[in-house]
Amino acid sequence: MKRKSQAKNKTATLAAALAIGMAGALGAPPARAQHGSAGLALAQQQNCMSCHSVTRNFMGPALRDIGAKYAGKPDAQTYLTHKILEGSTGVWGTVPMPANTQLNPAQAAQLANWILTLK
Ligand code: HEC
Repeated sequence: MKRKSQAKNKTATLAAALAIGMAGALGAPPARAQHGSAGLALAQQQNCMSCHSVTRNFMGPALRDIGAKYAGKPDAQTYLTHKILEGSTGVWGTVPMPANTQLNPAQAAQLANWILTLK
């Protein structure tokens, strides 16, 4: 029983991530509050917030600063999706971000979209 409901949840999350990812790719205007809460929940669930804060630098750069740096660049969503999946080094300082192998590409795209709404 437990297994079945987990699988169901995963499918629902994936569908939501894809829908949001597609809306972002199509240039839909950001629905700030909605993206904010879903994005933050996913970031918390996927351990991003153990190194990142929305507003402050600690292990990693503030997510708001990342959003401000890349928002408006045409390839920002694709670039950040890859960086989130594969990790990053040397862009913000000397501390590297390891690859976030727990994510699937749709989740990474959702997180990239969310970060781009934070500025
Ligand atoms: C172990 C700590 C750690 C975790 C966990 C982590 N990050 Fe990072 N993140 C960093 C550091 C450090 C940097 C700066 C890397 C650099 O200078 O290139 C960074 C950079 C980034 C960047 C900017 C990359 C660039 O090219 O400018 C994004 C976007 C990002 N993180 C998103 C995430 C997301 C989303 C998650 C969760 C799935 C996450 N991070 C989890 C430490 C972390």
